[in-house]
Amino acid sequence: MKVLIVGSGGREHAIAASVAKSSKVDKIYCAPGNAGIAGLAECVPIGAMEFDKLTAFAKEKAIDLTIVGMDDPLVGGLVDVMEAEGLRVFGPRKNAAILEGSKAFSKELMKKYNIPTAAYETFDDAKAATEYLKGAKMPIVLKADGLALGKGVLICNTLEEALDGVKSIMEDKKFGDAGNRMVVEEFMTGREVSVLSFVDGKTIKIMSSAQDHKRANDGDKGPNTGGMGTFSPSPFYTQEVDDFCKKHIYQATVDAMAAEGRSFKGVIFFGLMLTEQGPKVLEYNARFGDPEAQVVLPRMKNDIIDVVEACIDGTLDKIDLQFEDNAAVCVILASDGYPISYEKGFPIRGLEAFDNKEGYYCFHAGTKLDNGNIVTNGGRVLGVTATGVTLKEARSNAYEATKWVDFDNKYMRNDIGNSIN
Ligand code: AMP
Ligand code: GLY
Repeated sequence: MKVLIVGSGGREHAIAASVAKSSKVDKIYCAPGNAGIAGLAECVPIGAMEFDKLTAFAKEKAIDLTIVGMDDPLVGGLVDVMEAEGLRVFGPRKNAAILEGSKAFSKELMKKYNIPTAAYETFDDAKAATEYLKGAKMPIVLKADGLALGKGVLICNTLEEALDGVKSIMEDKKFGDAGNRMVVEEFMTGREVSVLSFVDGKTIKIMSSAQDHKRANDGDKGPNTGGMGTFSPSPFYTQEVDDFCKKHIYQATVDAMAAEGRSFKGVIFFGLMLTEQGPKVLEYNARFGDPEAQVVLPRMKNDIIDVVEACIDGTLDKIDLQFEDNAAVCVILASDGYPISYEKGFPIRGLEAFDNKEGYYCFHAGTKLDNGNIVTNGGRVLGVTATGVTLKEARSNAYEATKWVDFDNKYMRNDIGNSIN
C-alpha cells in the first residue's frame, strides 16, 4: 500500500521509520518532510496546512492511507477535508481535535465528566482576569486557550508576574489569536508523565509511558521549548498510577468525547502530573508527542499499519498492543540559542554513523538538503535515540551516539533521564 505522512519534524521521522518496517507498505510519501525523512519516503513540497493540495495529491497518487502527525492541520480540519473526498486518514476530525485545540474546551470537558485536573477559571477579557487574579493564591498558571507551539503556558510566582502575563497573552497577543481566551489554573506540583494512546472512537489502548524534558537548560532551567529530550518507560508510571488512570482518566475521556458527539479516532496524548492527591491531567494533545514518539514508537512491537487501520475501522479491541521490555532515551541536538534566537544553514557531519546500527536512531527535525548537503534548518535539529536493556544503559548509549554527529552551534542538555538513576 501507499502511505502519505503529513508533517516535517522528528515525530514524523519516527512515524515514517515505523511505517517503513511494515511489510504491507510499498511506498511512503511525506509532505513536506525533511532531509532525514527523505531517506525513507519521497518528500513532496506541500505544506501541512495546504489542505486542497494534500487532498489532490493523495487522490492523484491513489494513497491508501494518510497519517497526520502535526497538531495544526488536525485542529484545522484536514481529516474532514480528506475524508469528504473518500480518502482514508488517521487522526481526529476537527470536532474531536478541539481536545487539544482549545484548553477552555478540554477543561470544561474534564469538569463535566469528573476527570481529575487542576481547578480553573476561563476568561474572555483581560479586565475580569485581572480582578480574579488579585484575589488568587500564587503561584498560578495562565494558559492561552489555543495552539501556541507548546509555549502558551505561563507559571506566575507573584501577582505582578500574573498581571504581566495577562497583558502579554490577552492584550499584546504574544501567542496570537490563541490568547483571545485564557484559562487560569491552580498550580500543581509533582512528576510529569506523557502517556500516548491509540483510540478508535470507543476503545483505547495505552502505549508505554514516557517523560519529556521541556526546559531548554540542564536542571530544568531556562525557557520552555517543544521538548529537549525524552525517555521511555517512566519508572514513576507505576502499576498503581496505571490502575488509577484506567479507572478515572483514559476511558472516561474517550467516553466523554463520544457522549459530546465528538467521537475521537487517532492518538490521544495525556500530559499527566502525579500529584499528592493522585494523577491529574495537565493537558491533552490530539497526536503523538514530539519527542515522545521518538522513544515510544521504536519500542512498539506491533505493525503500526495494523494499529492505525484498526483505529480507523473501529476494531482496536482486536489489537494486542505490545512494547519491547527495554528502554529508550532521546536527546535533542538543537541549535544554540533555541527557542529564542539561533542561526541555521550549517552542514551536519557524521550522520552515516547511524546506518544499520540496530538500537540507534537519528531522527531529523530541522534539517534540509542544500546542494546535496544536509544542513541545519531549525531550532530542534536532530533527535538521537538509543535503546538499552535498562534506562541507564539507554541513556549511556544515547549520549555516546550524540558524539557521532556534529554541526556548528550544536547544543544539547546533558541530563536527559538523569532523574532515573
Ligand atoms: P501544557 O502545555 O499545558 O502541558 O503546559 C506546559 C508545562 O507547564 C507542563 O508540562 C507543566 O510543566 C507546566 N504546567 C502546566 N499546567 C500546570 C499546572 N496547573 N501546574 C503546574 N505546572 C503546570
Ligand atoms: N513533547 C510535548 C509535545 O509534543 O507536546
